[in-house]
Amino acid sequence: MRTSRIPGFYNKPVNERRELLSHMLGQDADAAGFFPEDPLDLETADKMIENVIGTFPLPLGLGLNFLINGKEYAVPMAVEEASVVASASSIAKIVREAGGFHTEASERIMIGQIQVVGCPDFAAAKSAILDEKVTLIEQCNAAYPSLQARGGGVRDLEVRLLNESAESAYSRMLVVHLYVDTCDAMGANMINTMAEHIAPRVEILSKGKVYLRILSNYADRCLAKATCTIPSELLKSKTFSGEAVRDGVIHAYEFAASDPYRAVTHNKGIMNGIDPVVIATGNDWRAVEAGAHAYAARSGQYSSMSVWSKDEEGNLKGELELPMSIGTVGGATRVHPMAKRSLQLLDIQSAKELAQVIVAVGLAQNLGALKALATDGIQKGHMALHARSVAIAGGATGELIETVAQKMIETNEIRAGKAKELVEEYTI
Ligand code: MEV
Repeated sequence: MRTSRIPGFYNKPVNERRELLSHMLGQDADAAGFFPEDPLDLETADKMIENVIGTFPLPLGLGLNFLINGKEYAVPMAVEEASVVASASSIAKIVREAGGFHTEASERIMIGQIQVVGCPDFAAAKSAILDEKVTLIEQCNAAYPSLQARGGGVRDLEVRLLNESAESAYSRMLVVHLYVDTCDAMGANMINTMAEHIAPRVEILSKGKVYLRILSNYADRCLAKATCTIPSELLKSKTFSGEAVRDGVIHAYEFAASDPYRAVTHNKGIMNGIDPVVIATGNDWRAVEAGAHAYAARSGQYSSMSVWSKDEEGNLKGELELPMSIGTVGGATRVHPMAKRSLQLLDIQSAKELAQVIVAVGLAQNLGALKALATDGIQKGHMALHARSVAIAGGATGELIETVAQKMIETNEIRAGKAKELVEEYTI
C-alpha cells in the first residue's frame, strides 16, 4: 500500500530505503532498476544541452508524511541544503495529524507575448488585431494541432498598449497576449511557436514591427494554492507551548508581510521546499522562481508569499498561493530518467496535481523555518544536520563522517578546521 508515513526511514541504510520504496511501487519495480547507479548517462545528457562534459548530481531525498486532499505523497526532493527534507517531513507529520493539507489549482493558462513597436497609430493597430482575433487564434492552434487534440489550445487573445504617451519611440509599444491552455505541459515551446507563427500577420495588421515573441513566466493564470489549519496543541515542543509557537509564527509572518528585507528570506525558505520538487520532476525551477517572486510583488510591494493567521478556535492557519508553471509532459520531465521516476514515486496524474503538491511542500517548508526561527533559533537543528557536510569538507570518509559530526555537535564547534583536526586525531 502506498503511504508517506514510514517511521524510522531516516535511520535505515540507503539500499533498505530503496528496497522499501520499490516494494511500495509494485513487484515490477526492482530497487536496482528503479535507482540506477548512473541516473543520467552521458549519452542522454549530451542530447539535453550543448558542450556536455559531465553531469552534476544532487542528493535526492524523500519528503515524508505528506497527506494532501486525503492522498498520501512521498515527495522526491533534489537539494544540497541539509535540513530541508527533514524539516518539511517533520511539519508534514504535524499537519497530517491536523487532517493534512488542502489544495486547489486554477485552470492552467499560460501566457505568450508579442511585442510590436513603431505603429503609426497604436489605437488603430489594437483595433485591427482585435478585429481579427478569431482568425489569429485559429492560426495559433493550427501551429500546434496536437495541443487541441488533447483538449488544450488558445483560449483568448488580448492587446495591451504600453507607455502610449511616452516621448521616446523606444518606449511606446503594443503587446499581444495569447492565453493558452497547455494541458499537462509547461508549454514554453508551444507558446513560442504560436507567437512566432502569427507575428508576420500581427505586423501587417498593426503596421508596426514585431520584436519579441516569447512566453511570459508570470503565470498568474496558472495558480496553485495550499492551506492548512493546525490546532496549536500540535505545535508545542519541550520548551514552548503550542500557543507560543503559533504566535511566534504569526509575528514572523507579519514581519515578512511588511518588510522586503525579511520577505526575501522568508520566501527563500518557501522556495527551499518548492525548488527541490521542481528539480526532481525535471521542471524549470528558474521559471517557477521568477513567477513566484513576481506574484509576491503583485500588490506593488514585494511581500510574503504565504499568509499565517489565527482562526476563531485559536488554530494556526496557513495559506500559500503561487503561479506554478510546471508540467508532467514535455521538456526534461520525460527525458531525465530520474524525473520520470520522481513522477512515478509521487503517483501524480496531472500537472495540476503536481502543482498542488509543490505548493503544499512550500507551505510546510515555510512553517518549518518560522517555527524554528521563532523558538529555538535556526542554528540548533541546522548545524546538527550541517555537521555531516562539514565533516566531509574536513576530510572525513566512511564511518568517520558520523563520528566527527557527532563530536563537533557535542563540543558545539561545527567548523571545517575542527573537522580536519578531528579527522587527523581519529586516523592516527
Ligand atoms: C534558510 O535556507 C532558509 C531560512 O532563512 C528561511 C527563513 O528565514 O524563513 C531559514
